[in-house]
Amino acid sequence: MTAASPVALVTGANRGIGRELVRQLAERGWSVLLGSRHEAPGRAVAAELSAGASAAGGEVVPVPLDVGDADSVGAAAQLVRGRVEHLDALVNNAGIHYDTWQDAIDADLAVAAEALEVNLLGPWRTTAAFAPLLRRGSRVVNVSSGAGSFAENGGAGGTPAYAVSKAALDMLTVKLAADLRPRGVLVNAVCPGWVATDMGGSGGRPVEQGAASVRWAVELPADGPTGGFFRDGRRIPW
Ligand SMILES: NC(=O)c1ccc[n+]([C@@H]2O[C@H](COP(=O)([O-])OP(=O)(O)OC[C@H]3O[C@@H](n4cnc5c(N)ncnc54)[C@H](OP(=O)(O)O)[C@@H]3O)[C@@H](O)[C@H]2O)c1
Repeated sequence: MTAASPVALVTGANRGIGRELVRQLAERGWSVLLGSRHEAPGRAVAAELSAGASAAGGEVVPVPLDVGDADSVGAAAQLVRGRVEHLDALVNNAGIHYDTWQDAIDADLAVAAEALEVNLLGPWRTTAAFAPLLRRGSRVVNVSSGAGSFAENGGAGGTPAYAVSKAALDMLTVKLAADLRPRGVLVNAVCPGWVATDMGGSGGRPVEQGAASVRWAVELPADGPTGGFFRDGRRIPW
């Protein structure tokens, strides 16, 4: 990859907020590894976004990466280690099951297990696998949600699998931040707001704004905050 460019890996980047984040970073001169669980869409989107990247001196490279599959994450880490010496940013963006259709009391626990597998264990195993590539000033960004915030939920029901998985992701963020603080790696959780994507549906804000909320944590200075929860660059309560 281009030696002078900062390097980011974004998971779940073939559509939605992840795709737009890759576009924004590439336009700013980042070299971006575009994670996609299915190879063909990842390749196609990376090819589309590469034009904006090369104009700015960056690059977009597809990486097959299913965060719910330990073998896939291991293979991706090996592939990336063969291409770059370090990562300046790891964005755990892939997410599933915004389960507005069910309540906790009678939820389908198979759905809950899948949500935990992808939304919690996905970022966990991905960060562990790529940790050797993180260095002082690198940033890990866990794309969380206000739906997982105790403070913002105000006792509301609904979206049980999703909300529980994101609340757990928030605690994982705190734990990883503590573990990686001695190495100077910043680990934060970010809510992109309600965004009009396949997951968010219509009515949310434009994907450009949602991705910009995440990008803020990707571009933090080396002495920036760690172990926090943010939206649009402002701290929000857990
Ligand atoms: N949209 C909102 O209003 C909103 C609000 C708060 C937080 N968020 C969070 O923002 C993140 C992105 O959401 P979005 O709105 O962009 O969702 P989206 O449009 O549904 O896109 C989800 C992305 O995650 C990928 N993905 C799903 N399972 C995966 C797996 N096992 N491994 C790798 N990639 C996987 C999908 O790939 P495929 O195409 O292969 O399915 C897709 O690229 C999620 O973490 C979500 O929880 C969204």
